[in-house]
Amino acid sequence: MKTRITALLGIEHPIFQAAMSWASSNSALVIAVSNAGGMGVLAAGPLRIDDFRRILGEIQAGTKKPFGVNIPLNSSKAAEMLNIAHEARIPVMVASQGGPREHLARFRAVGTKWLHVVASVEHARKAEAAGVDALVVDGAEAGGHPPPSEVGTIVLVRRVLQEVKLPVVASGGVADGAGIAALLALGADAVQLGTRFIATPEASVHENYKRAVLEAEVDQTAFVGRGMAPIRQLRNSFAEKYVEMERAGAPMEELDELFKQHSLKQAALEGDIKWGKVEAGQSAGLVHEILPAAEVMRRLVNELEAARRRLANL
Ligand SMILES: Cc1cc2nc3c(=O)[nH]c(=O)nc-3n(C[C@H](O)[C@H](O)[C@H](O)COP(=O)(O)O)c2cc1C
Repeated sequence: MKTRITALLGIEHPIFQAAMSWASSNSALVIAVSNAGGMGVLAAGPLRIDDFRRILGEIQAGTKKPFGVNIPLNSSKAAEMLNIAHEARIPVMVASQGGPREHLARFRAVGTKWLHVVASVEHARKAEAAGVDALVVDGAEAGGHPPPSEVGTIVLVRRVLQEVKLPVVASGGVADGAGIAALLALGADAVQLGTRFIATPEASVHENYKRAVLEAEVDQTAFVGRGMAPIRQLRNSFAEKYVEMERAGAPMEELDELFKQHSLKQAALEGDIKWGKVEAGQSAGLVHEILPAAEVMRRLVNELEAARRRLANL
């Protein structure tokens, strides 16, 4: 299948494995997805500098296909990580949380394609004006960092496509080939899946976390941190306490304090799925088994083909 994104990035399938802190902060998942013809994306955010350098080397040794690196530009480690990524001439940058403009020229000079993650029409316009090559657009169903506006993927992606000319990777709420077909039909040039790839042996999160994703129903996530930088995670003791305090009208400082006391790391590495931030999308309810990432890719491609045939035969 050829789209503006497969042509821009040189990948076989219009399918991205989303950057997920901890879950995709390793080489195995990225290598497996890229070797299967998709776009594997390393989440560099939580990594120490020396680990980032090592894992980048592992990925370059493990695949000759294009892969991406996600660097949150507002991180204190961003400048150093950008230098390492630039030196390594990474094929694709998937930058988030910050302005891309000042970095584009030097990355373009070494052949890196720059994708920018946005969650609003305004940020999509700004990223286009800054000169990025393509956008990743996150809707409200997404795990991790959904838009504060809570506008869903179908509406936000469609609106962004009305406003910008850039290729768009749609993200949030997709776990199978039918979902991919739906967003391609909407006009997206590729589709990104995060939560689906947590349920793989390659994802580097605790077994408790993977089990919690398999057990979750579509209505068992919570939107935590309204009015700040919200996250979507599975409902657990932390999320319930937060939402209860919010409902009771607790002051912002108290909510902020509670928010900061709990972490994704606590859930992802220590396996504390009760009090940690078990970030996952609504699509967790669509995920029922753990499969190797290459097998997930194979199934996604087959399901996408089946969805296209179904539509053609209607
Ligand atoms: C556990 C987890 C961690 C995430 N970490 C990041 C991150 O480090 N950087 C980023 O840009 N997005 C991050 N995200 C968002 C994903 O890149 C993606 O937008 C989201 O998973 C898509 O929604 P889905 O889970 O329904 O497929 C994370 C999502 C999850 C579930």
